[in-house]
Amino acid sequence: MRAVFLGPPGAGKGTQAKLFCERLGLCHISTGDLLRQAVADGTQPGLKAKEFMDKGELVPDALVLNLLEKRLAMPDCSGKGYVLDGYPRNIEQAKSLDAALEKLKSRLDAVAFIDAPRAMLIERLSGRRACPSCGAGFHVRTMPPKKTGVCDSCGSKLVQRADDRPATIENRLKVYEKSTKSLIDYYETRGILRTIPGGGEVEEIAALLYKQLKGAQ
Ligand code: AP5
Repeated sequence: MRAVFLGPPGAGKGTQAKLFCERLGLCHISTGDLLRQAVADGTQPGLKAKEFMDKGELVPDALVLNLLEKRLAMPDCSGKGYVLDGYPRNIEQAKSLDAALEKLKSRLDAVAFIDAPRAMLIERLSGRRACPSCGAGFHVRTMPPKKTGVCDSCGSKLVQRADDRPATIENRLKVYEKSTKSLIDYYETRGILRTIPGGGEVEEIAALLYKQLKGAQ
């Protein structure tokens, strides 16, 4: 299975991709996570990426593609397949992905488009908390940790992502409308788009995703 999870910020792509990959033994590749790791490592690409991420803008295509290609070449991605979470983000990236897969004599099996109403996206993003040590994700209202502000898995202090502040959320949603939304048509014309409503409970959406994608390989 080689799939892309597409959707606006806060639709639940990361939450669903993690579950889907754990359950099917696939490799979860989040370009957001790769970029945040590069920022945390203080590498030159990470420092460059941070300038864009802090404003809620897309990081330059070449920088993201470079990180993605390195990740795709890792051994765990050659097994049962992978889910790309947050890539591609514009038509240029989609074309680069097509070219990269063609070189590998490979192709995408499915693109899951997960969407939710705008007010819900804002509520989800502004309440999100993450563990900087083990990467576990929480939400102050819908998925609270047992002890406020503390990671259930490793006990570290939870943090709010810098780009989950109101002004940056607003810009990320604008960037999605301007650059990413056109990918819906791009993949619809290829006949591989599956639309999944993202407004329900996590397990309800997971079941819909599984049902929609299971015949896609
Ligand atoms: P990235 O990390 O990819 O952020 P995003 O696409 O904006 O998506 P999010 O992670 O914010 O949302 P999500 O849909 O994954 O929702 P989640 O599951 O976490 O990118 C960050 C930045 O990196 C970009 O702005 C850009 O600068 C850069 N970047 C990344 N990729 C790039 C690329 N390809 N090209 C250029 N730049 C790139 O859920 C959100 C919250 O809701 C959580 O708290 C969760 O617990 C909760 N939640 C989820 N599902 C449910 C549910 N069903 N019910 C209740 N709560 C739920």
